[in-house]
Amino acid sequence: MKEVNEILSKLTLEEKVKLVVGVGMPGFFGNPPSKVHGAAGETHPIPRLGMPAAVLADGPAGLRINPTRENDEKTYHATAFPVETMLASTWNKELLEKVGQAVGEEVREYGVDILLAPAMNIHRNPLCGRNFEYYSEDPVLSGEMAAAFVKGVQSQGVGACVKHFVANEQETNRMQVDTIVSERALREIYLKAFEIAIKKAKPWTVMSAYNKLNGKYCSQNAWLLKKVLREDWGFEGFVMSDWYAGDNPVEQIKAGNDLIMPGKTYQVNFQRKDEIEEIMQALKEGKLSEDELNECVRNILNVLLKTPSFRKYSYSNKPDLDAHAKIAYEAGAEGVVLLKNNDVLPFDKTTPFALFGTGQIETIKGGTGSGDTHPRYIVSILDGIKEAGLKVDEQLMKRYEDYIAKMRETEQYKPRAGLWGTIEKPKLPENFLSEDEIKVIAERNDVGIIVISRISGEGYDRKPIKGDFYLSDDEFELIQKVSSQFHKLEKKVLVILNIGSPIEIASWRDMVDGILLIWQAGQETGRIVADTLVGKINPSGKLPTTFPKDYKDIPSWNFPGEPVDNPQKVVYEEDIYVGYRYYDTFNVEPAYEFGFGLSYTKFEYKDLNVSLDGDLVKISYVVTNVGKYPGKEISQVYVKAPKGKINKPFQELKAFHKTRLLNPGESETINLEIPLRELASFVKDEWFVEKGEYEIRIGASSRDIRLRKIFSIEKERTFKP
Ligand code: BGC
Repeated sequence: MKEVNEILSKLTLEEKVKLVVGVGMPGFFGNPPSKVHGAAGETHPIPRLGMPAAVLADGPAGLRINPTRENDEKTYHATAFPVETMLASTWNKELLEKVGQAVGEEVREYGVDILLAPAMNIHRNPLCGRNFEYYSEDPVLSGEMAAAFVKGVQSQGVGACVKHFVANEQETNRMQVDTIVSERALREIYLKAFEIAIKKAKPWTVMSAYNKLNGKYCSQNAWLLKKVLREDWGFEGFVMSDWYAGDNPVEQIKAGNDLIMPGKTYQVNFQRKDEIEEIMQALKEGKLSEDELNECVRNILNVLLKTPSFRKYSYSNKPDLDAHAKIAYEAGAEGVVLLKNNDVLPFDKTTPFALFGTGQIETIKGGTGSGDTHPRYIVSILDGIKEAGLKVDEQLMKRYEDYIAKMRETEQYKPRAGLWGTIEKPKLPENFLSEDEIKVIAERNDVGIIVISRISGEGYDRKPIKGDFYLSDDEFELIQKVSSQFHKLEKKVLVILNIGSPIEIASWRDMVDGILLIWQAGQETGRIVADTLVGKINPSGKLPTTFPKDYKDIPSWNFPGEPVDNPQKVVYEEDIYVGYRYYDTFNVEPAYEFGFGLSYTKFEYKDLNVSLDGDLVKISYVVTNVGKYPGKEISQVYVKAPKGKINKPFQELKAFHKTRLLNPGESETINLEIPLRELASFVKDEWFVEKGEYEIRIGASSRDIRLRKIFSIEKERTFKP
């Protein structure tokens, strides 16, 4: 603090203004590249005082920097971890912390100071193009996953940035759209996730979101950035804007958006002036006081002084990529979700099987945009299977290799440059094998496996159409043909879903014997798939988000806002009834519920004890592996509130636990605590706990409740926000 005040006293007014505005997007629009090529931004250095620039880089599935540099032989690859939704499917806090440590080491060793992750918006609608970058539809799961990840990152002496604060649940018109949402839904769902992460892990920075919140840009919203974030939650780091967000830099500073990123917004928005000039002008005219500016500078300095750049850390450019590859594998291994299994998995290493679907070769490791990564390699599903020595049908494999190579040369399906410098590959037709060919393939194999893939990314939302939320006709026909030929011979069929967020499953699942959801598992995808097929990995992931039966069933029916062709506002009419809170309260049956996931083994739950000890609800129970394979079980604690003065969802997740690896016959006793405040609803400016009988429900999923017990709260309680 003393050092901060000392620096502050030495800064000229112009230097202070520079500190609250980034240097412009490095490497674009004639701006010099960052010392770390591909970093998303930098703060202004103050060489006179020996203050270097701090370097900021994405993102949620691993550090996003350029893997190569001009006139430089060396490479700068970073590990591609599974996407956040898959990390959340692990429900494993220790593992998330470990992933955070690995990413943090790469951040530090490549000379970056602040990682622009984790992203933690809520899965309000399955079609949000960036859902893969977000954890869950539930704030407790999101907040806990983010807290663990931030702890891991920051244990490496670099900063994390929780983003996008707040209510940024769509890509359509994301820079202007006005999110209209009640304070109750904000506090209980959308802010709650951030509140947990900020209180538990103290991230160095927060990124304010692009959108408006109830009429005011998040980056210009003093209620959000000062009242909620600092006064209510005690946040001590700095807030940065999302890239080119908002429309008024002076208002941003006044509202407590400390750093305007990336700076030089006029380079992309010709209507705008230089932020530095605008802020200087406002100071001159008395529209902004130096005290207001100082507050932002102080917040920024508090963090900058901790950065490796400021401490002149000499980074190696050699993070331990081999060790991190193992962590990426481990994280993916625990995030695989087995949705259906009628005796198809696991199978023996010697079982001959046929692999269908172009995604076996063009495997999707993650989504596009700032959540992308540039790893050393990506193990495709086919490569993973070959490496593991499994008995995949070689003729069919060759058929797919030739088909893809040939199609990608045609004008229609040629890979092309997309947004963000990614190479987009138009979706290939999947139905090129005749019924007769498949019949012969079925004769010589014991299992048929079909890969279905999807990709999405920053800048656009998905669509409720065939080929996106629904299977395309050719995908459907492929599943139909393979199933009918294999089933005629009494052989099994498995579908592998290589997707970033839910698709429609209910209309075709009865055709197949098994469904394995591998999400977008990063660079190790193929190895994870191969090991799961033969039981080296026993799936232990559970859904962090509901798979609805049909798009018409979802509560956020008005996504992405109105007017439909160019949404100016989006009203969160479903209010607190997001995800399972809606499906459970209004009796809408999903295809696969929140918290669902099968295992190769079975678990039994027993001995539930619940007691109230002061302001803590104490819970204990025992989980036993009663099946044949070693495995881990995720148990979930839902609370059903009494019917009282306020409407409540049918039940809400309040705690969860993943066991250690339990051998057949082994048990683990689980002890969990829920602070009373976490049972509250947000009513008229405070948290309110109704008196009455509460039911503690211990579930293997939100709809598979194994143990229940009632406890009473005798008196109403209130807590400050
Ligand atoms: C994204 C942020 C990202 C930033 C810098 C923005 O477009 O919304 O998530 O951190 O760019 O790349």
